Amino acid sequence: MQELEALFNPKSVAIVGASHHEGKIGHTVVKNIISSGYKGKIYPINPKGGEILGLKVYRSIEEVDNVDIALIVVPAHIAVEIIEDVAKKAKFAIVITSGFSEVGNIEGEKKLVENARKHGMRVLGPNVFGIYSAKAPINATFGPEKIRKGNIAVVSQSGALGIAMIGRVAEENIGLSAIVSIGNKADLTEVEILSYLFKDDLTKVIFLYIEGLENGREFLNIAKKKPKEKSIIVLKAGRSKAGARAVASHTGSLAGSDAIFDAAFRQAGILRAESLEDGLNWVTTIASSPPPKGKNVVIVTNGGGLGVIAADACEKYGLHLFNDMEVLRKTFQDVMPEFGSYKNPIDITGQAGGEEYRQALEKAFSEDSIHAILALYCERGDAELEEIRDAMAEVHKKYGNKPALYTIFGGEGATHIIQSLKKQGIPAFSDVEDAVSALYALYKVHEKKEEEKFEEVEMNEEKIRKIIEEAYKERRHRLLSHEAKEILLSAGLDVPPFYFVKSIEEAIDSANKIGYPVAMKVVSEGIIHKTDVGGVVLNIENEREVAEAYEAIMENCKRNVPKARIRGVEISKMLEKGVETIIGATTDISFGKVVMFGLGGIYVEVMKDVSFRVAPVPKKEIRRMIREIESYPLLEGVRGEKRKDIEGIVDSIYKVGMLVSKFEEISELDINPLIVYEKGVKVVDARMSIKVRK
Ligand code: ACO
Repeated sequence: MQELEALFNPKSVAIVGASHHEGKIGHTVVKNIISSGYKGKIYPINPKGGEILGLKVYRSIEEVDNVDIALIVVPAHIAVEIIEDVAKKAKFAIVITSGFSEVGNIEGEKKLVENARKHGMRVLGPNVFGIYSAKAPINATFGPEKIRKGNIAVVSQSGALGIAMIGRVAEENIGLSAIVSIGNKADLTEVEILSYLFKDDLTKVIFLYIEGLENGREFLNIAKKKPKEKSIIVLKAGRSKAGARAVASHTGSLAGSDAIFDAAFRQAGILRAESLEDGLNWVTTIASSPPPKGKNVVIVTNGGGLGVIAADACEKYGLHLFNDMEVLRKTFQDVMPEFGSYKNPIDITGQAGGEEYRQALEKAFSEDSIHAILALYCERGDAELEEIRDAMAEVHKKYGNKPALYTIFGGEGATHIIQSLKKQGIPAFSDVEDAVSALYALYKVHEKKEEEKFEEVEMNEEKIRKIIEEAYKERRHRLLSHEAKEILLSAGLDVPPFYFVKSIEEAIDSANKIGYPVAMKVVSEGIIHKTDVGGVVLNIENEREVAEAYEAIMENCKRNVPKARIRGVEISKMLEKGVETIIGATTDISFGKVVMFGLGGIYVEVMKDVSFRVAPVPKKEIRRMIREIESYPLLEGVRGEKRKDIEGIVDSIYKVGMLVSKFEEISELDINPLIVYEKGVKVVDARMSIKVRK
C-alpha cells in the first residue's frame, strides 16, 4: 500500500486550472491554500500565465518541478487530456472536476485513472472538494477558508455534505486534523485513507460518511486494525430497506444491503450513527472526553423530571446508573439540601445555584467509583445561567479525569450557555437524550475488542467438492435437497438420516432402515414449493403408507407441474416438535459471504426478525448475533419451558460460516428449518445454490 504522507503533508502543490477570476473554484482553491498558512511551494498553472493572488502563474505543468500534489480544476474533457502530463510530475492528483462516472462518464473516469497510474500517480476523486490537512497545514479545498485545527478527521464521499460539515464544525468550534473528500473513489478509497489516518498522530476520531462500499471486505480488514486509542464513527446513507431481490433463498431476499452494513460495522467495532446530528455529537464528545474507566454513571440535576428522562434514556442505551447508596450519600451529603435525593439521579433541587453545582460536580469528579457524569440544568425563571456555566466549565477543566457531559434545558439563554461551553471544548447539549446517546457512543467506542478466534472444522471436503462438480456437470445451479443435506452433513452439521429413492421398493426399504414415522418429499429442481403441489407427505407410519405416499407424490407432481423433471423422493425421519429456526448464507456484493439467523415461520417471514454477520464468524460473535433477534427469549425458554440448545445453534452457524467461506462456489443456502431442542439441533430441510461458473 502506497504511503499517503505526501498527500496529507505535501511539500509542493500545483493547481491545474488556477483561475484569475475571483469566485471560480480554481481561484478559491489558490486563495484557501495561501490563507491556510501553507509553507510549501505553490504552482498555479494556467495557459494564460500572469499572476494569481501575487503568485506567478505557469503556463503548463511541464514548466514546474516535481510536486507532491496536483489539484485538477479544469473541465472534465481537459482533465482527461492533461492527466498524463500531470502524472509525470505529481505523486497525487486531487481531481475536483466533476462530470465523470457520477453522470455516466465511466469511460472518461477509467481513462483518467489509467493514464495517471501508468506513471505511478494516485488519484483522489474525481468529483471531490479537495483536502484539508492540519499537519501541513493546507486547506486545498474550495470550501470555507478557515478551518480550525483539532483531532477529528472527516472522510466524506459526498462533497456537498463534506463542505457543509466544515461549516458546521466551525460553528461548533470543533477542530479538524483532516478532511478528505473521496468522491467517486476511482482510485484511492476510504481503505487507504483510513490506514493513513490510523498512523496520523493528530487524529483521534474519524468520522466517515459513505454511501456505498465496493470493497467491503478490505474495508473490514483495515477497520479491524484500528489502533485502540482511535475511534471511528460511520454515517452511512441509505438506511431504507432494499427491495426484495429475486433470489432463490429466504436469506438472499432478507439481506437488504443495509442490514449487512450494520452487521459488518458491528463486527469490525465501528459505531454507526443514525443521523448527521448524532454523528457530530458523538465525534465531538469522543474527541473531547477521556475514556471512561468503569461503568458507573451519575446524573446530577436540579430538576427531578429532567433527571428521570435522563435515567430512562440511560436504561434505553444500556448505561449503568451507579446505585451504591452508601457511596452516593458519602459523596453528596455536604452539598445536598435536606429535601434532596441521594438516589441516582442526584437531585440537588431547584434551589441549586452556581455554588451548589460547583460543589456537587467537584464531589462527583473526586469520587473514584463514579466513572462518568451527566450534569443537567433546567433553566429557572430567576436564571443564574452564567454562574452555572462558570461552575461547570471551571470544575470540568480543573479535573478532566472522567467523561462529563452537560445538558442545559431552557430557552435562548440556555442556547447561549451551550454555545459558550462548546467553545471551551466541553460537550454540552440542549437535549438530555442527545447527551445520553453521546455518552453511550463514548462507552461503545472504548469497549474492549476481543481477538477473533477460529478453530478448524473437520469437513469431508472431497465429498462436498464432488457434489458441487456433479451439479456443474449437469449445468445446475440449484442443488437438489438431498445434495444440499449431504454437503451439510459433510460439513459436520447434525442432519438426521435421509435417503434419496427412485422406486416404491427403495422407499420401503429406506423407511424400514430409518424407523417410523417418516416424511417423504419430491426431489426435482423444477419444484421449489413442494408442499403447494402435493409433493410432501408427513407422518408416514408403515410400509403401506410409504407405498401410497410415493404414488401420490408422483401423481400430484406430474399433474401439477407437468414440465418438471422428477428425480425421485427424499425420505427422512419425522422429527419431534421443537423450536424452528432458520440459518442461511448468501453473497453480498460488497462484503462477500454472509450468514443469517432467525426463528422460522412467521418470525422470519412476517416479522423479518433476523440477524446477519459477515462470514466466517467467530463463536463469540455468533452468540451476540443470536441474542440480537427480538424473539431470542423463546430460545431462552418462556412460560416454564426449558432453555433450548443455543450452543447447538452457535455450532451450526459456525460450521455454515466456515463452509461457505471455504467453498466459494456456494452462493446461497437456507437451512429451514433447523429444529432446536433442549438438547441438540437437527437440520430438517435445506436449499443450496452454487454460483454460475464463467
Ligand atoms: N491547464 C490549466 N488551466 C487551464 C487549461 C489547461 N489545459 N485549460 C483551461 N484552463 C484554465 C481556464 O482558462 C480557466 O482559467 P481562467 O478562469 O483564468 O480563464 C480555468 O482553467 C478553469 O477553466 P474553466 O473552463 O473556466 O472551468 P470552470 O472553472 O468553469 O470549471 C471545474 C472547472 C470547476 C473543474 C468544473 O468543470 C467542475 O467540475 N465543477 C464542479 C466541481 C465540483 O462540484 N466538484 C465536486 C465537489 S464536491 C461537491 O459536490 C460540492
